This record gives sequence, C-alpha cells and structure tokens, in this order.
Amino acid sequence: MKRTKTTDLYSPGMIGKEVDVMGWVRTRRGNKHVQFVALNDGSTIRSVQIVFDMTLFSDDDLRPVTTGSAIHVKGLLVESQGRGQSCEVQAQTLEVFGTADPATYPLQKKGHSLEFLREIAHLRPRTNTFGAVLRIRSALAFAIHKFFQERGFYYLNTPLITASDCEGAGAMFQVTTLDIANPPRDEEGRVDYSADFFGKPTALTVSGQLEGELGATALGAIYTFGPTFRAENSNTPRHLSEFWMIEPEVAFIDIADNMDLAEDFIKYCISYALERCHDDIEFLSQMYDQELEARLRSIVDSTFVRLTYTEGVKILQESGRKFEFPVSWGIDLQSEHERYLVEEHFKCPVILTDYPKDIKAFYMKLNDDGRTVRAMDVLFPKIGEIIGGSEREASYEKLQQRIKELNIPMKDMWWYLDTRRYGTVPHAGFGLGFERLVLFVTGMTNIRDVIPFPRTPNNAEF
Ligand code: 4AD
Ligand code: MG
Repeated sequence: MKRTKTTDLYSPGMIGKEVDVMGWVRTRRGNKHVQFVALNDGSTIRSVQIVFDMTLFSDDDLRPVTTGSAIHVKGLLVESQGRGQSCEVQAQTLEVFGTADPATYPLQKKGHSLEFLREIAHLRPRTNTFGAVLRIRSALAFAIHKFFQERGFYYLNTPLITASDCEGAGAMFQVTTLDIANPPRDEEGRVDYSADFFGKPTALTVSGQLEGELGATALGAIYTFGPTFRAENSNTPRHLSEFWMIEPEVAFIDIADNMDLAEDFIKYCISYALERCHDDIEFLSQMYDQELEARLRSIVDSTFVRLTYTEGVKILQESGRKFEFPVSWGIDLQSEHERYLVEEHFKCPVILTDYPKDIKAFYMKLNDDGRTVRAMDVLFPKIGEIIGGSEREASYEKLQQRIKELNIPMKDMWWYLDTRRYGTVPHAGFGLGFERLVLFVTGMTNIRDVIPFPRTPNNAEF
C-alpha cells in the first residue's frame, strides 16, 4: 500500500503532489458544500486537514466518516487557505477501512480526564496526549541506546527469571509453572499457586545489576535496558509493579566517574527529546504544564549539586521545616525530603552520596568510616529519586562478610562472588527508572500515564 505519512506532508516540494493519507478520523465538520476532516495517523501530533468538495462526494459517502473511523484518502496536497495548518489535502477518492459507531466509541471529541483514559488504556494511544507521550518514550529509548553505543558500551541482556534478589528487599513476584487456564485447586476450590519453576523457586527480576556486573567485568562497559518487577504494594504516582530500567555497569571506574556518567547520560536524553520531539513537548506544555520546556532546558544547562547523605540530613534538620516523617541520621529519605533539597534548597538536581550502609544493598563499597557506603542517588525536581547507583564492593573478603551479616544464603551467591574471586576490579554502575525519566520529560504527573500498559497492585487486566 502506498502511504504518505503526515510527517512527510510538510517536507519541501510536497505541495502539488498527489498523496495517499491513511489514519483515524478525529473530527468532521462542514456544510453541504464542503466537509473538513481532521485525520491523525500517529506519525505526529499534527492532524492533517482533508477537504471534501461535496460536488464530488455524496452524503452517503461521508456518513461512515465519524470520529474514530479509519480511512484512506487519495488527493492533492495544496497550501491551506484556513488558519492552523500550512497545507491540506483535497480529496479525490475515499476508502473507509473501518467504521467506529458513535454510540459506543469512547473517544468522542471532548476533553477526557486522564483517570477516564486509564480505564480505556487499550484505546488511549489514539489521543493526542498519549500519542505525544508514546512518541517521546520511543525517542528516549532510542537516545539511551545511542548514548551508550556511541561510547563503546555493549548492550547486555540479563534474565527476567532469576533465583537471586539483587536489592535484598524481598519484594519479588514468584514464577510458577501454573496452567493459567486450568490451575490446580485445593479442596475448597482455591487456586494453588505454590508450584515452582521446574523444581526451583524463582522470581521475576528486580534488577539486572548482578548479571550486569558479570558483563562489565568481562567486556569493560555494558548496559541493560529491560523490564524489572517489584512486588511492593506501593500505590504512588511514582511506583509501578513492572517498570523498565537502564543499568550501565563499568569496570575501572569509581563513584566520581559514575556520577559524571549519570549526569552526562540524563542530560543527553533530555537534550535529545528537546531536539527531536519538539512538537510533542510543546503540545504537552500547552495542555498540562506551561513550564515544561523551560524546566527541561534548565536541567541541561545546570550542574548537578553533589553532597553526602550526612550533609543532606544536616540541611534538612536545619531547614526549620516540619516534615511529615521526621529527619534523623540513618533514615531512608522520603520523597518530601528529597524534593525539599532539590526544589527548595538547591533548586537544581542533586546527587546524594555515602548513605548509611544499613539502608542500602549488600553489594555497595564500604567507606573507611565503616558505617556508610559509596552509594549515589540522583534526585530530580518533581520526581525525587530518578537514579540509584553505587561503586561496588570489589574485595572478596569484605563482600563475603557483608553477605554473612545480612544472612543472604551464600550458596546462592557463588557465581556473583566469583567476580571478586577471579580478577576483581574497581567498578560501578547505576539504574535509571525509565518511566521516571519519561515522567520528567513529558511533564505528566502520574507514572501510570507514561507506560502503555501500567502494572500496579490493582491493575493487570490488559
Ligand atoms: O534504586 P533502585 O532500587 O536500584 C537498583 O535496582 C540498582 N540495582 C540499580 C543499579 O545500581 N544498577 O532502582 C533504580 C531506579 C530508581 O532510582 C527509580 O528511578 C527506579 O529504578 N525505580 C522504580 N521506578 C518505577 N517503579 C518502581 N517501583 C521503581 N523502583 C525503582
Ligand atoms: Mg533506590
């Protein structure tokens, strides 16, 4: 099928050409002499205007052309007389691919709340808002690969089914060999979920980091980019049960290099989106958040502030602010604390380092003080924690000690410990929550609105 995408209509030299536009009808209006259809084909936020001269078409021809129907129009691309668009298509032929009954099609032309659109997640990509978000998401995914590939990192695929709990948080989804259509049941008819993965208890991964370290200590620098799963029952606008994470891991770098990498990486992604998704960002700014574009530019131009957890806690304690969750050395900082530091105190992104070891995972490098570790969290306005990372413990003995202290079954970790047993090196890495980045770049406020099919504690229907 010959198809002219809407994005191509605006290329130089297209005026006067015959085009074949295909897409979904947003609106139709007009009178008995002329009808105007706004058609969107998903390639851009812009809909193309199609003009039907009603001396060439009958009312019956146009009757199925209602909001949501899918059509193909062959016609001539001309400069537009009307306002709001530079060109339009003068229809010569019309083919209706599929109708959409106005009595039942839920996306009629009117404002829909984001809450309502969440209930029709299967159709919401056809709205301007979700079209824009999904195009930006796709561009950011490309930017991520581009950034790492250009710097000599290898893309490593880590397993989704695993027997190890990387973060040690114990919030994993168990994998079973359940026949979902015909599950085993107990005498009372309750489904028995206890079957394990061919005799071994396994779960969906919370992070690809441990396997990432195996890659980095062989290839030098790798990154992962895949889905991760957390079974924590968090109903917040920043948590998903299934989210995508990017985890670079690099040999022969320390925490300072790791911070430089994180800062360059995130600025690169935002710059890329500003450059390549300008129409979509502009649309979202107008719809939801006037300051979006300026905020994105300010991040690219800023220098992230770097300070230790201990210094951060001191600032919070001396702020005079009454926090819902009181601040003392040793607490896991809450979103309200992180946002105070970023939005009110420093007014720019902050990288907080050297957290107490008791609130961080087992693999982080212990500092000489014996009570803090070389962790780094990147904190962003509106978001809070966007990146979590660290320099890793390279010493076999110290790592073993830590695993013992935390009662992690040593027999499950032998393969990981081998990285320290054989040719251990200083290395570091971090994880960026992809949806938190998309949230920031689109200016949306709920993480459920930046992933096509959100998985949250009470939503896994489709
Ligand atoms: O801080 P986290 O738990 O770190 C790790 O998993 C490390 N293994 C990463 C590494 O060093 N390779 O998660 C990393 C990031 C967070 O900063 C946050 O952006 C995101 O993942 N994240 C979530 N995003 C959405 N929903 C959730 N439930 C998330 N949990 C973490
Ligand atoms: Mg974290």
